[in-house]
Amino acid sequence: MVVLVSAAAITWAATSAPRDDAEASSAPRYVPAETVTSLPVPDITQSPAAEDPCALPEFTAALAAGDDPAAIAAVGGGEAFRAAVAAGSLSCVGLSDPGHVWVVVNKHRPLDPIDVWPPDLVVPDRVSNLVAAGLRPAAAASLTAMADAVRAAGAGDIGIASAFRSYGSQQATYGRHAAERGVAGADAVSARPGYSEHQSGLGVDVVPCGNGCGTLDDVAGSPQGAWLVEHAWEFGWIVRYEEGRTDVTGYLPEPWHLRYIGPELARAYHDGGWHTLEEFFGLDAAPDYRD
Ligand code: DAL
Ligand code: ZN
Repeated sequence: MVVLVSAAAITWAATSAPRDDAEASSAPRYVPAETVTSLPVPDITQSPAAEDPCALPEFTAALAAGDDPAAIAAVGGGEAFRAAVAAGSLSCVGLSDPGHVWVVVNKHRPLDPIDVWPPDLVVPDRVSNLVAAGLRPAAAASLTAMADAVRAAGAGDIGIASAFRSYGSQQATYGRHAAERGVAGADAVSARPGYSEHQSGLGVDVVPCGNGCGTLDDVAGSPQGAWLVEHAWEFGWIVRYEEGRTDVTGYLPEPWHLRYIGPELARAYHDGGWHTLEEFFGLDAAPDYRD
C-alpha cells in the first residue's frame, strides 16, 4: 500500500513542551525543565486523493487520454507506479488492457479481448523489416531510435523477424510448432493464440543484420544481442524471456523477443534488477496454462 502524505497534511498535536524559539522572546530566558512523560503524537490527516492515486485528477485524465507516460508521471514515476500496482493500491489499473504499455500477457493472462487487433499499428522506419509487420506507435518509434543507437554504437543493424501477429497468425505459428514438437514442446517456445505479446503490438523479435540478416538463434552471440541486453531498457524495451526464468514465464529463453513497456517502467525494471514482468508487478508465476 503506497501512502502519499504531503508535508502540509501533517500537523502535530498540541503540547506544553518549551518552544524551540524560546530564546527569541524577551523574558524569562530560563524555562524550567518539565518532566516529559510522552512524546508528541503526530496527527496525520490524508486526503482521499493522496491515499488513492486513482482519485488524482491528473492520473485519471491521463488514463482517459491514453497517455501512459503522463499517467505514470502522475503517480510519481515508473518505480512508484510499479510499487503501487504490486501493492494493489492502483485500484483503477488492471494489467489486462492491451491499450496500455503495462499490459501483462502470459499463460494466465490472455489478451482481452482474446482476438484483439490494435487499430494503430505502424511499420517502424529505418529498420530492416523481414515481414513488413507493424507495432503500436510508441513502440515503433522507439524501435527506430534504438536501431539507430545500435548502429551508432558500432554494433551493426537489427532487423525485425516478427512484430504484430494477429490471433489467426499466432494460431498458424503455434500450430506449426505443435505439429513439430507436440503440445508440451510447442508451449515452451510459442504462445497459444490469444496469449502472445506479439498480438498486443508491443512485442518484437529482432535479428542481427549486416550483409543480410541472421536468424533468431544468432542474436545471443551477436554484438547486437549484447548491446540490447545492456541498453534496450533505455528505449523502453525489456528482454522478456530470460535464461533461467522458465519457471516464471513458461518459456525457454528468447534473447530475441523484446517487449515494449515504455522508458519509465523499463528504467524501473532495469534499476530494480527485475528479470520477469510477473515479479516486477507482483503477479503469480505463469509457467503453465490453467486449463
Ligand atoms: N514465442 C513467444 C512466447 C510467443 O509466441 O509469443
Ligand atoms: Zn517473440
